[in-house]
Amino acid sequence: MSLVAMQELLDDAEQKGRAVGAFSVGNMEMVMGAVRAAEELRTPIILQIAEVRLPNSPLHLMGPMMLAAAKNASVDIAVHLDHGLRPETVHKALELGFTSVMFDGSQLPLDENIRTVKNVVQLASDYGATVEAELGVVGGNEGEGKAHEALCTDPADAVRFCDETGVDALAVAIGNAHGNYPRLPELRFDVLEAIHKAVCVPLVLHGGTGITPEMFRKCIQLGVRKINIATASFDALAKAAKAYCDTKDGAPNYFELSGCEAQGVYENVKRHIEIFNMQ
Ligand code: 13P
Repeated sequence: MSLVAMQELLDDAEQKGRAVGAFSVGNMEMVMGAVRAAEELRTPIILQIAEVRLPNSPLHLMGPMMLAAAKNASVDIAVHLDHGLRPETVHKALELGFTSVMFDGSQLPLDENIRTVKNVVQLASDYGATVEAELGVVGGNEGEGKAHEALCTDPADAVRFCDETGVDALAVAIGNAHGNYPRLPELRFDVLEAIHKAVCVPLVLHGGTGITPEMFRKCIQLGVRKINIATASFDALAKAAKAYCDTKDGAPNYFELSGCEAQGVYENVKRHIEIFNMQ
């Protein structure tokens, strides 16, 4: 068990009719909490970090730590760059040894998105890495309370996109959004079903925070093989830290605090893995 390409985990999820959880991390406590949950449940996961998080959590520090955690884990783990926005960042992640990368060209015109993703697929193949890309617009922004407008993926565009880019996994927009939903989203399962019927690559659901277990199950039945969870873990860490500090009467202890942060993330990741493993 160790660091693996994301493709291996997607194939395994397909075979088992489940989805692999992709958990965003921003510090060591998050990495440790997520890996502990995966090991305890004997379930492979993806550790990921998004390009927008790099000002807080630099790639040259987070990357080697994520990779070391994967290599030392007792379960298979893929290490993934989430929402790569610039080809240079994708290149850096591949050079560090990330086993998969997402290039997010969803804001680009379709032809330009296709052209750029095709180049990323070519580059990643030199490293044996898996590539995810997004089509349509997933709304919001994890933890930052931005607008939740989403633009659904067009199934016909999805066919062209997958054929022309050779991408390994496709992130879809079906009414999902990053961050805490202001109200329960109405996911477009009809659109998801049409995309699933039209393309043969595994589908990815972003914006997992706040989706109900029933909605996750339905998405998995309709071809979703990777589910991203970020905000729920960041919030779980912050909440656990606050709860700990509130009990300490102004004299918190760093080492206890660090343990509480990891525990908060562990509990959130464990809860999600259990849902994704349900048959
Ligand atoms: P949430 O922040 O809504 O969990 O979304 C995570 C995500 O999709 C990261 O790409």
